[in-house]
Amino acid sequence: MTNKILLIGFMGAGKTYIGKKLALSLSLPFIDLDDFIEKQCSLSILEIFNKYGESYFRKLESDTLNIILKNNTFVLSTGGGIIESEFNRTLIKDSECNTIFMNTDWDCIWERIKNTDRPLIIGKSELEIKKLWIKRFDLYSQCANRVINNYEEIL
Ligand code: S3P
Repeated sequence: MTNKILLIGFMGAGKTYIGKKLALSLSLPFIDLDDFIEKQCSLSILEIFNKYGESYFRKLESDTLNIILKNNTFVLSTGGGIIESEFNRTLIKDSECNTIFMNTDWDCIWERIKNTDRPLIIGKSELEIKKLWIKRFDLYSQCANRVINNYEEIL
């Protein structure tokens, strides 16, 4: 396994939870991309969306991804929308990362995220978010070297 591990997957897939465990067991530094952005801006992701809008957040997300991928060792957990931009998908595919798609069943995802303050969920119906989950599936698959289903394989 390389010493650059990238976790991708939908909101609530357990990227941060598993990322911390993986980093600990492999003795690699753990980075959560959203946490990193929040610290840089001294604002929560929700505040960034509310204050500056989604496209501003996406630019920050891309720039931060680009910087972190240049590090030599990490377990990096990313936000669920990282694969939306072609630029990010190319960055990920061209990186030397072992990219793991954390694939999780819809019912499980929805239970975990429905009562959270994730900006993309606020004001949306379950069906709208499920459509996004379906739409993104291929994008995660395209970028990944490995798929973990409901994270039973590595716990
Ligand atoms: C997003 C997922 C969030 C966060 C932002 C946008 C998305 O991260 O980056 O709210 O587009 O799916 P999590 O996947 O950690 O919830």
